Amino acid sequence: MSDATPTARDAATASLERAYDSVLFVGRPWPNTHPARMATIARLVGIEVPDPRRARVLEVGCGDGGNLVPIAAASPEARLVGIDLSQRAIGEARAFAGALGLANVRFIHGDLRELPTSGDTYDYIIAHGFHSWVPPPVRDALFETIRETLADDGIAFVSHNTLPGCSIRKIVWDVLRSQTDAIESPPEKFARARVVAALMSEAMRMQPGLPQALAGEFDDIASRPDFMLMHDDIAPINDPVLLRDFAAQADRHGLTWLADADLFKHIAPAFGERANAWIDTVGRIEREHLVDHIRLRRFRESLVVRAGRGTGTPVAAARLEPMHLSAANSLVEQPGAAPPPPASDRSPAARRRRLLDRLVAAHPASIPVRDLVAWIAGSSAPGSALAQPEQALHLLLRAALAGMALPHAEPVPVATRIGERPVAFAPARWQAQRRDFVVNRRHDAVALHGEAQRRLLPLLDGTRDRAGIAARAEDWTPPGEARHALDDHLAHFLKLGVIDP
Ligand SMILES: C[S@@+](CC[C@H](N)C(=O)[O-])C[C@H]1O[C@@H](n2cnc3c(N)ncnc32)[C@H](O)[C@@H]1O
Repeated sequence: MSDATPTARDAATASLERAYDSVLFVGRPWPNTHPARMATIARLVGIEVPDPRRARVLEVGCGDGGNLVPIAAASPEARLVGIDLSQRAIGEARAFAGALGLANVRFIHGDLRELPTSGDTYDYIIAHGFHSWVPPPVRDALFETIRETLADDGIAFVSHNTLPGCSIRKIVWDVLRSQTDAIESPPEKFARARVVAALMSEAMRMQPGLPQALAGEFDDIASRPDFMLMHDDIAPINDPVLLRDFAAQADRHGLTWLADADLFKHIAPAFGERANAWIDTVGRIEREHLVDHIRLRRFRESLVVRAGRGTGTPVAAARLEPMHLSAANSLVEQPGAAPPPPASDRSPAARRRRLLDRLVAAHPASIPVRDLVAWIAGSSAPGSALAQPEQALHLLLRAALAGMALPHAEPVPVATRIGERPVAFAPARWQAQRRDFVVNRRHDAVALHGEAQRRLLPLLDGTRDRAGIAARAEDWTPPGEARHALDDHLAHFLKLGVIDP
């Protein structure tokens, strides 16, 4: 698609354009923006949305395509459009999609307000890292674009920095901005920001009470890449909002806040009996407002739909039944779990542990919920509550709400064994030599181990068998070790979820 017809930029947008053109924002996959994930949450709250596999998708502020290109590669029947203000980012996005030969994704260089609509509608609209980082008129334009172009049964994802948690982060931003605003050269800005952050941390640690506790906020700055400092911590615009203000803004544009795209952020009775009962008595948005304060939330991934579609209902266990469940990444990454309980232990804790072990063993693949329900019932003592499918579903829902398990409306599309001519996910092959992460088939960013893996992954394009791959790997592997090392690397790739099914 050709670029948008440019209009005169307001000063704030022109300055953002210069900033994103001078320091590239390195995009990555944001799992909860994937239409398949949005569809899962929508169904769990009782709202039907279009089939993600054949959807029309718009990403606003798509940057270098780090999020949209992998979605396009995984969904050949979907049609996707990305728009971004930065010419440089759009150039990167086109190069990424072009290298993969994708014909189902188009990138437009331009201001969101110049988006050529001509009656186009989208089933899924994504705006990640956008709302908080643009001036207020562009925020309104985002909601207007959603109102004008979202299909009647569509769903939009808008992430935003959130209060009250971001008030804490704002302490860092305010100091770094005032100390770097006058510096022109980006490298000098970054160096100054890091020096100031280290000094602040050191000084705050010497104070009694709260300052000491908050000193760690400044420590994070040392490990942040330059582009994050530039476009996040010292960005001229960074406006967190209360969820209820965000929901009110959606209302003003004929839209309704539906739910958070992260199931872990859905309301669960996790605050003690008295507080749980209190939270239950207040209205939907007020309840979210209270929990944001209890948890000091900093970030939200809000899903919105057209007003009139209803606000959904709290996630119901029965809606999990036709779905699939996988282990959450955080669960898999936990080091050194305790040994499994003996088979004779049928306590609730032991059953939950066995369930999580089973999900971890299958990771990154998912397991049909019906199989899990039958397995839980089969391994429960006759007559026990969990022998009842409804109770088993509740156990699974609790694991999902606690952030340990992930529901999927469709099975996770990963390989569970390595074929003779292995094929790695095409965007990951492209990223292997260019990024410090690769995207997997679950739309997560995962890390390769070392240079050998970065060189190997691009070879897995289906044109070589294992012997052929090992022969190429001999160039950088000690003599006689290539074949054996290859098996280890392939097993690792399988576990990372980067192998196509
Ligand atoms: C913080 S970056 C986020 C990039 C990506 N969505 C992500 O989350 O990784 C914000 C992006 O929005 C783009 N942007 C800012 N104002 C815009 C506007 N008015 N129209 C289109 N894109 C805009 C910037 O160029 C930048 O690529």
